Amino acid sequence: MKILVTGGLGYIGSHTIVELINNNFDVHIIDDLSNSNLIVLDNLKKLTGQNIKFDKISMDQKSELDEFFEKNNSFHGIIHFAAKKYVGESSKDPLLYYRNNLSSLINLLDSLRDKKLNNLIFSSSCTVYGNNNEAPFVETTRIAEVFSPYGNTKKIGEEIIKDVGKAYGIKSILLRYFNPIGAHPSSIIGEKPNGVPQNLIPYLTQTAIGKRKILNVFGGDYNTYDGTALRDYIDVMDLAGAHVKALKRLIKEENKDVTETFNLGTGIGVSVIDVIKAFEKATGKTLPYKIVDRRQGDVEAAYANTDKAKNILDWTAKTSLEQSLLFAWNWELKQIHSNFNNQKAA
Ligand code: UFG
Repeated sequence: MKILVTGGLGYIGSHTIVELINNNFDVHIIDDLSNSNLIVLDNLKKLTGQNIKFDKISMDQKSELDEFFEKNNSFHGIIHFAAKKYVGESSKDPLLYYRNNLSSLINLLDSLRDKKLNNLIFSSSCTVYGNNNEAPFVETTRIAEVFSPYGNTKKIGEEIIKDVGKAYGIKSILLRYFNPIGAHPSSIIGEKPNGVPQNLIPYLTQTAIGKRKILNVFGGDYNTYDGTALRDYIDVMDLAGAHVKALKRLIKEENKDVTETFNLGTGIGVSVIDVIKAFEKATGKTLPYKIVDRRQGDVEAAYANTDKAKNILDWTAKTSLEQSLLFAWNWELKQIHSNFNNQKAA
């Protein structure tokens, strides 16, 4: 079965490609390479032993997408990862985010309707639960005000897909990721942030390897068990597996609603200090860190209620935090020797 994967050379996309191929899907990647690199494609080919189809497409340019679908129009499912994803950047340049993330989605939906394609998986985020809700978040939790333009593109994207589903019958599953971490166990693919990492794990591994001096822990005065903020860290390969389950559900027409929503997390809220301890235990490294002021916009606790994914998708996270951090560390170690190291990459 042929699956189109947009943004398939990015962090979550590339790991999902591996799981799709493991499940005998025939994948076709489109990516604009704005936050990724063709080296990822080569690495995916090496890892899977497959010749993966790829086209460089800017999805916000409708003509490029139209031309692509003129040549390729027999997909059994579509996984839409392609989007800008940096919270801070989105606040500095909201129009970049609204234009890119929403026009890409609308252009894609236009093509799905016109070409009568169905079965869409959408990358959403726990950010849609906003700042005012209390964890654990259930899929039915009222969506509060979202604090970043990036988060708004996910929230609005979900609404657009629901309306389109109702009107044209395009079936979809919205996947709300919590905090994806880790790398493929082979260390052949992993997370490659541009510039100074904004997220905890890449900052932590870069500190451990000596690229950064010290890890700043944002906030030690939260109302949590050790004063640092709680998050739900989900291994990227576990996350990839959930996409395959969601896709099969749509293809087999097992979905109960035209648009369904699932949280993807472990269900466990872990503090920043506990992440540091788990990393030290897994790797034997000592990590220099200090507690500093809270980061603006951070919530105290964000973790999932995962019952729905467990009961309906038959999916649960399997990889332990320590194991996942070890995979992230092995990937970081490999970057020292990688020709990919000094290039702009995913
Ligand atoms: N943190 C630090 N130091 C750092 C980086 C992060 O202490 O250098 C802390 C944060 O304050 C937070 C935790 O580590 O408590 C996790 O932070 P991340 O930046 O890794 O992740 P966030 O939870 O802030 O962001 C994630 C996704 C976003 C999404 C958001 C929704 O990366 O895409 O969840 O809440 F919008």
